[in-house]
Amino acid sequence: MNELDTLLASAQAAFAQAATPADLENAKAQYLGKSGRVTELMKGMAALSVDEKKSRGAAINVLKQGIEAALTARRQALAEAELQAQLKAEALDVSLPGRQRGTGGLHPVSLTQERIEQIFASMGFDVADGPEIESDWHSFTSLNNPPNHPARSMQDTFYVDINGADGIPYNLRPHTSPMQVRFAQAHVKKYAGVSPMPEVRVIAPGRTYRVDSDATHSPMFHQCEGLWLGENVSFKDLKVVVTNFCRTFFESDDLALRFRPSFFPFTEPSAEIDIQFQSGPLSGKWLEVGGSGQVHPQVVRNMGLDPETHIGFAFGMGMDRLTMLRYGVNDLRQFFEGDMRFLSQFR
Ligand code: DAH
Repeated sequence: MNELDTLLASAQAAFAQAATPADLENAKAQYLGKSGRVTELMKGMAALSVDEKKSRGAAINVLKQGIEAALTARRQALAEAELQAQLKAEALDVSLPGRQRGTGGLHPVSLTQERIEQIFASMGFDVADGPEIESDWHSFTSLNNPPNHPARSMQDTFYVDINGADGIPYNLRPHTSPMQVRFAQAHVKKYAGVSPMPEVRVIAPGRTYRVDSDATHSPMFHQCEGLWLGENVSFKDLKVVVTNFCRTFFESDDLALRFRPSFFPFTEPSAEIDIQFQSGPLSGKWLEVGGSGQVHPQVVRNMGLDPETHIGFAFGMGMDRLTMLRYGVNDLRQFFEGDMRFLSQFR
């Protein structure tokens, strides 16, 4: 390798080593600057003959072009590297999922309640709401279940530390049945003097409370009460209304219903309502969804109505139970633990 080739190689190596544009400009000065190596070679030509100058000059020019080409290439490489570094630093990872605005949704039991209200409204039922802290008279006595009656022990009730006018503590209503009496009393007031008194046809969904807690019972739970009183309302109507409701609610035309004889102090006769799916995971099993019966004449009297003109039926269904069956949930406590992973599935 001659002297000029060695110089070119050393310039290329020096440029390659320059890690920043500033380093590169320093390296350039060492070769192409005023007192750089190439400039020195030019100066050295002064002593040569004309012929020698020609060939030496041409060789030095080739060298100079080689060095300049190496410089340009390195400049571009450094600029490119800088651009890449900048792009990397400012990178936007478009593969990350966007942040969605959280959309709320109704609680599964609220969805059930809405559905129940819609179905009964389509059958001409009013929807009523009532107090959760209830008087002893409304929760029990008016429903033919006076103090010390053994049927009171069917419900393990929460009591509140405040006495009612009768000296008996208020309770957290253990069922929605007191709404039968409350609604009918308001109805009697509303239609006072109207003859004949219009029918009472109402449902009353809401929260209820009992000292009870396991996979299928929660101390706070939900019921929906139903009441239909008129001149000619019979047990047959009860069966039609409840059957219609259940088949619509579960979207199952072949759902079977069974009215199993039972006892409630406020109805006579009384029946538990059982349903049976004909397909799906619960197929063939009888499942209890509520209680029902013909409203006891004494309860009708307590409402302020005449049991000769207002005859009919009542029922009470567990809304949590209906929700569990509809969505295939097997532990009722999940509804009330507030775990978003569970609840957001119903949005
Ligand atoms: N209140 C009853 C309970 O909680 C359910 C019930 C049964 C309601 C019969 C009714 C009825 O209206 O007629 O167990």
